[in-house]
Amino acid sequence: MVITTKPVLFALVSAAVILIGTIITVFIPLLMPSTQPLSPYVKPYTAVELEGRDIYMREGCNNCHTQTVRPLRTEVLRYGEYSKGEEFAYDHPFLWGSRRTGPDLNRIGGKYPDSWHYRHMQSPQGMFEKSNMPPYGWLANNRLDTLNSWKKTSILKYGYSKSDVHRQIISYLSYVTNATYPSRESRNAVTPPELQGELTEMDAIVAYMQKLGRDVKKLEAKN
Ligand code: HEC
Repeated sequence: MVITTKPVLFALVSAAVILIGTIITVFIPLLMPSTQPLSPYVKPYTAVELEGRDIYMREGCNNCHTQTVRPLRTEVLRYGEYSKGEEFAYDHPFLWGSRRTGPDLNRIGGKYPDSWHYRHMQSPQGMFEKSNMPPYGWLANNRLDTLNSWKKTSILKYGYSKSDVHRQIISYLSYVTNATYPSRESRNAVTPPELQGELTEMDAIVAYMQKLGRDVKKLEAKN
């Protein structure tokens, strides 16, 4: 007897084989520990940086900007050290992107002072006449909503307590509103007076820009 002559038995046996294959290839890896490489140098985003990242996604910045430097000589010369797997351990979802209308941003952190970002976001054409990046000055008119910040960091398993998140927000607020903040003048120039004493969406996006690739740059400086 050949199994191919018994349709019902054949269907049952193949269903069983497919089921076992599915369990092995889908469910077992799902339950195994993460294979995401981790580096002690790459730290999770602070609550404010994470809010900035959400605004980045909301505004679709990733439609024009990639966040991954490929290991090609031309890219490394232009942007810096190429991107490594462990840099994205805290990125859910990844924002690698696939379109470079604007330059890659994976190494933007520390490239410019905050003041540059405030002025550039307010008016990209003020910095580069032919820039086709839209202006985002209005982000400074929006108070930063931090109501769900802790929830977001806990869903992403960053390991912050509620008071850690509160402290991060207060500490960034006192940093940008301090009289000694080096980019105070530019921040005040783009932020309406009634919001200068609070965190705005613009502050969060600048904080996020400064975080990108910063940990890797620190590591390079160490070596
Ligand atoms: C329509 C496409 C487009 C969108 C959308 C866009 N950008 Fe840009 N961006 C550009 C272009 C083109 C440049 C290069 C010219 C310039 O600096 O203005 C640029 C430059 C930049 C730079 C400077 C990069 C460098 O290395 O000098 C930063 C930072 C930046 N964009 C951030 C953002 C953020 C944040 C958003 C979303 C809020 C955004 N961009 C949305 C096109 C875009």
